[in-house]
Amino acid sequence: MKTVNDISELRAQVKAWRQQGLTIAFVPTMGNLHAGHISLVDEAHKHADKIVASIFVNPMQFGVNEDIDNYPRTMADDQAKLTAAGTDLLFTPTPEMIYPNGLDKQSFVEVPNVSDGYCGESRPGHFRGVSTIVCKLFNLVQPDVACFGLKDYQQVQVIQTMVEDLSMPITIIPVPTSREASGLALSSRNGYLTAEQKAIAPALQHNLRWLAEQITTKYTQQHDIDFITLAAQATKAIDKAGLTTDYLHVCHAQTLQPATMADTRLVILAAAHCGKARLIDNLQVKLS
Ligand code: PAF
Repeated sequence: MKTVNDISELRAQVKAWRQQGLTIAFVPTMGNLHAGHISLVDEAHKHADKIVASIFVNPMQFGVNEDIDNYPRTMADDQAKLTAAGTDLLFTPTPEMIYPNGLDKQSFVEVPNVSDGYCGESRPGHFRGVSTIVCKLFNLVQPDVACFGLKDYQQVQVIQTMVEDLSMPITIIPVPTSREASGLALSSRNGYLTAEQKAIAPALQHNLRWLAEQITTKYTQQHDIDFITLAAQATKAIDKAGLTTDYLHVCHAQTLQPATMADTRLVILAAAHCGKARLIDNLQVKLS
């Protein structure tokens, strides 16, 4: 695997591949890679000839109270994992290369509606930072397809909407969440959990499953579904397990608007604090 941090070197390699008629899949990351990221590379291999990954801890998507300086950076280990997974090129730009005029003078991409609630509300400006960096990386790498993990369900909807709204010729491939045997979604943030917290953290996914079962059962029995009351019950159970729920909502799977009885494709979105970690998770529910 070749590692480049120079934009012109990246563009030259992409151009050479294009001239050979090769297709490109892209896996953008912020590093500190785990098996979930590698599953994105594995999926990428199914869709293109060449795989480009990036590692860039994007300052634009961190809030003022979020500690970007302490975000885990594990470059050598990440390079070994990406090489083993068959990545062809790793792009590792610096913030100065990506934002040469500083963040204050940077143009940005803002995706309305889907960026607004949930993580968008808890982390103001976060999705503006995500859509802007992903747009820039797409312009630099010019991939045919790009893979994103469904653990960040709202992020996938934001990026999918941006691609559609701005007519970007890129197919977004959502990749299922990788989990520990306990059900805990793999995340770089799990590194902040103590052994004790790791034991209670799966309560988040367990209660999403409980809630999904309640919804499915009521739908099958043709009962009214009070999404708000059920979500409040799941929230209470998560908090009782020792986590602090940030939000938990049942939503339309695409628009992310609050679910109604007319919707058959739903997603339960949730975030909860566990010690120093803010965990996010979700569960899709298909009613038929
Ligand atoms: O999901 C992430 O790791 C980041 O939000 C992304 C997509 C790499 C943009 O910085």
